[in-house]
Amino acid sequence: MVSIFTLRYYAKIYLLPLFLYLFFNKRMNQFVYFVIGFIVHGPAGPLVAPLGSSVVLLCYVDELLLMEDLEVEWRRTDSETLVHLYQDGESRPEAHQQDYYDRAYFFTDQIQHGNFSLCLENLRAEDEGRYTCRVYSQQDSGETEVQIKHECLIVSGSDRSVSAYDGEDVTLSCSVDSHIKPEHIEKVLWRKTDGNILVLLYQNNDTLPDSSDEQYRDRVEFFTAEIPKGNFSLRLKSVRTEDKGGRYTCRVYSQQDSGETEVQIKHGEIRSVCFCI
Ligand SMILES: *[C@@H]1O[C@H](CO)[C@@H](O)[C@H](O)[C@H]1NC(C)=O
Ligand SMILES: *[C@@H]1O[C@H](CO)[C@@H](O)[C@H](O)[C@H]1NC(C)=O
Ligand SMILES: *[C@@H]1O[C@H](CO)[C@@H](O)[C@H](O)[C@H]1NC(C)=O
Repeated sequence: MVSIFTLRYYAKIYLLPLFLYLFFNKRMNQFVYFVIGFIVHGPAGPLVAPLGSSVVLLCYVDELLLMEDLEVEWRRTDSETLVHLYQDGESRPEAHQQDYYDRAYFFTDQIQHGNFSLCLENLRAEDEGRYTCRVYSQQDSGETEVQIKHECLIVSGSDRSVSAYDGEDVTLSCSVDSHIKPEHIEKVLWRKTDGNILVLLYQNNDTLPDSSDEQYRDRVEFFTAEIPKGNFSLRLKSVRTEDKGGRYTCRVYSQQDSGETEVQIKHGEIRSVCFCI
């Protein structure tokens, strides 16, 4: 019978000398780890994101890998289409499939930490599917898979941010684009994401102003005549300093699905939100 102790014993006998050999065989002024086998990690489940948004496809290793001869490939699992290639110490955009050419990026400062996550901007319906991240180093290779699903209920806003001075009224846009009938909308939830504050709730064909957090009570409303058109834009009256800076999300729920749009209230200048470097 092979017990854990026997395995450990053989590991000591055979692997340790190999490890030492590799270690002393290399230049000592280089601070490197030698890894015999590594595991590539990905996300725990599928990524679900609205169309037009940016997503981060996680792919990383725990160990430090030798940077020389390191190669990382992101491909569509089904078609093997090349989404992103990292080779000889840099990204190789000329090799990328055109659809991804200017939408897929590495976090350059993360590569040295073994983090090969990919930022995919401006998510399209065709991006839905599985992606494989393959990491090749001198010693070994490994891979992980990430699945992207887009939200089927398409909810859109008009701007990423609106600006307002204190005391002004603002309209935060949110409307359902798809062919869903208004009576199939179960719930619409406007929240300020920082602090998870409930701004306004629509449920069972009714606006529930009493559900609003104190900060927003009596200052928020829907455009009632617009609701049958799937327009759940929010009017926020008499903007206060504390209303600003944070992100507001409008999440629309149907029986099967949900979708979301996001907007920020800014003071003065408009700044667009982008998560990629
Ligand atoms: C890898 O980088 C991405 C983007 O900066 C970050 O979201 C993620 O948390 C990083 N993962 C690890 C394990 O450091
Ligand atoms: C909402 O209104 C529609 C149409 O008037 C109706 O069919 C539906 O049952 C109502 N839903 C609720 C939860 O009251
Ligand atoms: C929703 O209603 C608001 C207020 O009337 C209006 O400003 C906005 O343009 C409407 N949005 C759409 C997509 O019709």
